[in-house]
Amino acid sequence: MAIREILTYPDRVLRQHARPAVDPASDEVRQLVQDLADTMYDAPGVGLAAPQIGVLLRVAVTDTRWREEDESPDLKVWINPEISRREGEAVFEEGCLSVPGIYEEIKRAASITASWYDMEGNRHTADFEGFSAVALQHEFDHLDGRLFIDLLPPIRRQLLKKRLRKQKKQQMQST
Ligand code: NI
Repeated sequence: MAIREILTYPDRVLRQHARPAVDPASDEVRQLVQDLADTMYDAPGVGLAAPQIGVLLRVAVTDTRWREEDESPDLKVWINPEISRREGEAVFEEGCLSVPGIYEEIKRAASITASWYDMEGNRHTADFEGFSAVALQHEFDHLDGRLFIDLLPPIRRQLLKKRLRKQKKQQMQST
């Protein structure tokens, strides 16, 4: 069990492009997935991407079920994911462990087709809709250095970024 520190805005690591995991079945990836899962459940959150704990590999985990009542954990692992189809529009309120305290309605594709590798090195392709589709787009964006606040209208985005920088400064002064 290893709970890692979650990097927060405006940490520059969050803005980097992550590189593909060369061997999805490696011990390095297995350990990373374990750390991501431990850190996500501890936070708690419904998704976490490797750059958020400072690892620039294209790996993310999600569990969009476990916070609902009577649902047991259902961890999903996404290695080197790609989105090959985006259709429609859906608006969900999103938050992010790397942008604490901010929840905003974000417009994304309502339906996607994604491909990814599992930890045995097998490639999968499937369609996703609704909250799952949105959660995956959010997590995969992290692998390209994108945050959900980047998708806000410019004026709203500027306002939030100013507020977040101020928050961070105050935090750093008080610790
Ligand atoms: Ni996030």
